[in-house]
Amino acid sequence: MTDPTPPDPAVSARLIVTGAHGQVGRELLRLAPAALGYGRGDLDITDAAAVRARLAPGDVVVNCAAYTAVDRAETDTEAAYAGNATGPAVLAATCADLGARLIHLSTDYVFPGTHDRPYDTCDPTGPGTVYGKSKLAGEQAVLAQCADAHVVRTAWVYSGRGSDFVATMVRLERDRDTVDVVDDEVGSPTYAPDLAAALLELTRRPDAPRVLHATNAGKASRFELARAVFAGIGADPTRVRPCDSTAFPRPARRPAFSVLSPRSWAEAGLTPLRDWRSALGDALARRSD
Ligand SMILES: NC(=O)c1ccc[n+]([C@@H]2O[C@H](COP(=O)([O-])OP(=O)(O)OC[C@H]3O[C@@H](n4cnc5c(N)ncnc54)[C@H](OP(=O)(O)O)[C@@H]3O)[C@@H](O)[C@H]2O)c1
Repeated sequence: MTDPTPPDPAVSARLIVTGAHGQVGRELLRLAPAALGYGRGDLDITDAAAVRARLAPGDVVVNCAAYTAVDRAETDTEAAYAGNATGPAVLAATCADLGARLIHLSTDYVFPGTHDRPYDTCDPTGPGTVYGKSKLAGEQAVLAQCADAHVVRTAWVYSGRGSDFVATMVRLERDRDTVDVVDDEVGSPTYAPDLAAALLELTRRPDAPRVLHATNAGKASRFELARAVFAGIGADPTRVRPCDSTAFPRPARRPAFSVLSPRSWAEAGLTPLRDWRSALGDALARRSD
C-alpha cells in the first residue's frame, strides 16, 4: 500500500504566539484558538533556557512580545533593548538551532520619517527614538541569526479597546466639547484583527521575502484619524481641531511621516490589507461586543 500524502509541514506545524496578552497577540489567539499563546508570565523571551524549553522543531513562532512604551523607552533604555533586541535575538537563535520558523513584528518607527512618500522595505532606516533604535537592533538580530525568519513592520495598531488611539478618541468625544489632535504626524492606521489575519496568512508562506510591511492601506494624520473616529460614532468631526506636535511635547519625537508601502506584501502574492477607513468602520461597530 502506498503511503498517504505526507503531512504538509506548513499545515501541521504548531503555532506559538509570544507576547500573547498584548494587543496583536490577543487577536492572533482569537483567530487561531489552537495556537499556543504565551504571555510574559509564561515565557519571558529574554530567558534563553525558558525559550528553549517551550519551542520544538517545526514550530512557527509569531513574536508579538515587545517593549512598546515609546516615551518611557527614552529613559528606560536597558529594558527597551532587552525586550526589543535581546529577546528577539534569543528567539531567533533558538528557532535557528531547533529548525523552527520565526515571524517577528517590527515598526514604522525604524524610519526617520522625513519622506513624503511611503517607506518601502528597501529604504534606509534611521530611527530617531530609543524605541525605534531598539526595534531596529531586534530586526537585525533576527535576520542575522535565523535564516527562516520574517520581519514584518507594521504601524499605528489599534483594536478600539483599552487605551489605544481610537479608544481614547471615543472616550474624549464623551468627555470633552473639543479635542486638539496633531496634524503633523502621518502614518498607516492598522486594525489589529486585520494585522492578525495577515500574519496568519504569512505563517503559511515560508517562501515570502524576509522583510515585509503590513498595514491597512492608505494614510492619515492623527487629526484625520481622530475626525474619522468622531464621524464614525455619529459625532460632529469638526469638534476635532488640528494642532501641531509642538503643542504636545513628548520625550520621544514621533516620525513626521511613516507611512509604509504595501508593495512588498502585494508582490509576495499575499492578500492586500483593506483601506484603513473600512477597517475603522468595523472597529467602531464592534467596540461594544
Ligand atoms: N501598537 C502599535 O501601534 C505598534 C506599531 C508598530 C509596531 N508594533 C509592534 O507590534 C508588536 C506587537 O505590539 P502590541 O501593540 O501588541 O504591543 P503590546 O500590546 O504592548 O504587547 C506587547 C506584549 O509583550 C509583552 N512583553 C514585553 N516584554 C516581554 C518579554 N521580555 N517577554 C515576553 N513578553 C514580553 C508585554 O507584556 P507586559 O505588558 O507585561 O510588559 C505585552 O503583553 C510589537 O513588536 C510592536 O513593536 C506595534
